[in-house]
Amino acid sequence: MATVSGVAATEATKIVWNERDKRFETEDKKAYLEYELRNGGKVMDITHTFVPSSKRGLGLASHLSVAAFNHAQSNKLSVIPTCSYISDTFVPRNPAWKSVLFSEDLKSSI
Ligand code: COA
Repeated sequence: MATVSGVAATEATKIVWNERDKRFETEDKKAYLEYELRNGGKVMDITHTFVPSSKRGLGLASHLSVAAFNHAQSNKLSVIPTCSYISDTFVPRNPAWKSVLFSEDLKSSI
């Protein structure tokens, strides 16, 4: 198949919520975002994001992150961006999601 643009390629990629393993992942499970629940389940701490090297730079990590942030917002969870991809790349590039982040002031109480 011909190479398609990153956006088209990732929009076609289905992201699955794996509640048991606390992950959002591709159907083949090769790319994933992992989280821990804190504060009685009200806080989603995103600890790691991984995309296989052959698929990097196409926006797949961004696609996984949107799924996780949408889930957090729908379930009234706040997000701690422990993973550097989330804190240094995804949120700065998508500042609307800052409203879902856990307040720094409350962080020390966890
Ligand atoms: N921390 C912060 N940002 C990172 C990063 C990291 N470790 N690695 C890459 N990025 C940024 C790059 O600046 C890149 O920017 P560019 O598009 O201007 O080149 C951007 O992520 C690419 O975004 P996207 O296409 O959505 O990401 P991806 O699908 O290529 O996946 C990672 C990004 C980080 C998940 C992937 O490179 C990976 O699995 N790396 C190894 C594991 C890792 O370091 N995870 C992050 C820490 S938990």
